[in-house]
Amino acid sequence: MTDASMRVLSGIQPTGQLHLGNYLGAIRNWVAMQDEWTAKGHECLYFLADLHAISMPHVPAELAASTREMVAALVACGIDPARSVLFNQAQVPAHAELQWLLTGTARMGWLNRMTQWKDKAGKNREGASVALFTYPVLQAADVLLYQTTHVPVGEDQKQHLELARDIAQKFNNDFAPKDENGEDAPVFTLPEPIIPPEAARIMSLRDGSAKMSKSDPSDMSRINLTDDADTIMQKIKKAKTDPEPLPGDAKGLEGRPEAANLVGIYAAMAGTSVAAVLAQFEGKGFGAFKPALGEVLVEQLAPIAARYRALREDRAALDAILRTGAAKARALAVPTLEKAYQALGLVRG
Ligand code: TYM
Repeated sequence: MTDASMRVLSGIQPTGQLHLGNYLGAIRNWVAMQDEWTAKGHECLYFLADLHAISMPHVPAELAASTREMVAALVACGIDPARSVLFNQAQVPAHAELQWLLTGTARMGWLNRMTQWKDKAGKNREGASVALFTYPVLQAADVLLYQTTHVPVGEDQKQHLELARDIAQKFNNDFAPKDENGEDAPVFTLPEPIIPPEAARIMSLRDGSAKMSKSDPSDMSRINLTDDADTIMQKIKKAKTDPEPLPGDAKGLEGRPEAANLVGIYAAMAGTSVAAVLAQFEGKGFGAFKPALGEVLVEQLAPIAARYRALREDRAALDAILRTGAAKARALAVPTLEKAYQALGLVRG
């Protein structure tokens, strides 16, 4: 792939608060890719997946409020609306349009295998929304609409991106038109997930076998990016651990998911490796490690929380960011959406 063809896109559901898992698994990479790639003239698109959020029961007024709050949180983390295209799906109808066009290509069997569908629907498949089932097709549309090459996400989104690639491949196989040389002219680019190796899956502070999540009913299970210093210190102090001291190497963390998670968080926040953290804390208990971890978190998150609190007050400014971003996204979406309509034989005047 040539440098000129790179385009970055990723999304987040605007439900609940931005937490440490989102930040380390995805948002930190969004900012790094923005800083590196927009300087070289590439486009970065980041959006709030508000259309995805209606796949689960929700309160409309809360969705509207948390959409604006999420814009403030992303800007506070370093997403710069002057360099990245920052928008919400609901203002770019091409996402929903392309989703419908792709539902002719996606197979029931593919969607049935999605672990998120199985987890979220649970035993109540009959009562789950149709949107929850077709959710990954909308996600494929989000990505394919812009000829995205790179998608920075946490590990839990890998399966959805593999599905997006499968849909793109089948659509290209079934419907790609011929170019002037008689060769197939693919409609969609196959996207690559970008998953940070050291923070792909941040776990709950209360249970080392469950991922840190907005939907966990216990707020003690996660660090929100907007938590104040006392709350962060308190959550880390109460985090589940085991009675053993920290080992000297990563092998010693096997079978100790809570300890492994906290050490991983320290390494990711301090910008160092698990090995380096263990070299520093070998033989120390959690009584010594936890306050050090809390301090690293407070030091890094306090400036983000302060920026967030200032930004969230200005609703007009947040709406203006979304309006401007959506206008740019609508323009970028046109060529691929038109190609998809044409490829399917749908007459467009
Ligand atoms: P969402 O809103 O659940 O999460 C946003 C991003 O945060 C990552 N993440 C985590 N990473 C590491 N550890 C964790 N505990 C953790 N929890 C969340 C997610 O992997 C994600 O990158 N379906 C998506 C939103 C979406 C999207 C897209 C993403 C819609 N369309 C197109 C990429 C491309 C979601 O619900 O993410």
